[in-house]
Amino acid sequence: MLTLGVNIDHIATIRQARRTVEPDPIAAALLAELAGADGITAHLREDRRHIQDRDIRLLRQTVRTHLNMEMAATDEMVGIALDVKPDYVTLVPEKREEVTTEGGLDIVGQKQRLTEVVAALQNADIPVSLFIDPHPAQIHASAQTNAKFIELHTGCYAEAKDEKSRHQELDLLAKGCKIAIAAGLRVNAGHGLTYWNVYPVASIPGMEELNIGHSIIARASLVGLERAVREMKQAMLGNL
Ligand code: PXP
Repeated sequence: MLTLGVNIDHIATIRQARRTVEPDPIAAALLAELAGADGITAHLREDRRHIQDRDIRLLRQTVRTHLNMEMAATDEMVGIALDVKPDYVTLVPEKREEVTTEGGLDIVGQKQRLTEVVAALQNADIPVSLFIDPHPAQIHASAQTNAKFIELHTGCYAEAKDEKSRHQELDLLAKGCKIAIAAGLRVNAGHGLTYWNVYPVASIPGMEELNIGHSIIARASLVGLERAVREMKQAMLGNL
């Protein structure tokens, strides 16, 4: 069955905009689970731009579905993951200036290092997923690291400007999924998925989990706004 991992980083981004305590990603994770999320995803970045160490540790205690910790393949992050023990780790590339994760990991170019990181985590019973572009060379290199999963980067599909290129990108994802499964990998996907473009990706045979953040949090901020304003008017009247 295809599952949904809800990425709650943007909740932490709003909180960090004021360096305050709300909204709390822990509460967001709980609500997402109540609504049917099958997993919670949080990216502890080296620059701590949104999710904080405290968040990932508390999520470990409170998440009742499964916790997917996204992180760079650095010694610091491996140490934290070994301590926190998320249900799985997704290794992503990180550049300090980027707005969000841009492009997949280059497994071919750093296979040795990534094989070591995968071993360190999987020897501690933390399955590893590698976030990669849907290119056969990257998929085969991923299998050679012994990682249990890959997450196919859906960004190019999401950003395709016309029907023809969208179709081509979808085809790459579907073929990539097939190649990966044949190589013994389990397959997730994510990045840039929205209410309008998710269905074709969700329909790819063998796909296990979609990790979605921005579109869900964007919608939440709008569908929740009316109620929030109404409640502030009540609070101004001393009636909340
Ligand atoms: N998967 C990975 C590996 C990511 O880095 C991100 C963004 O943090 C997502 C999925 C979710 O992407 P989006 O926020 O565009 O749904």
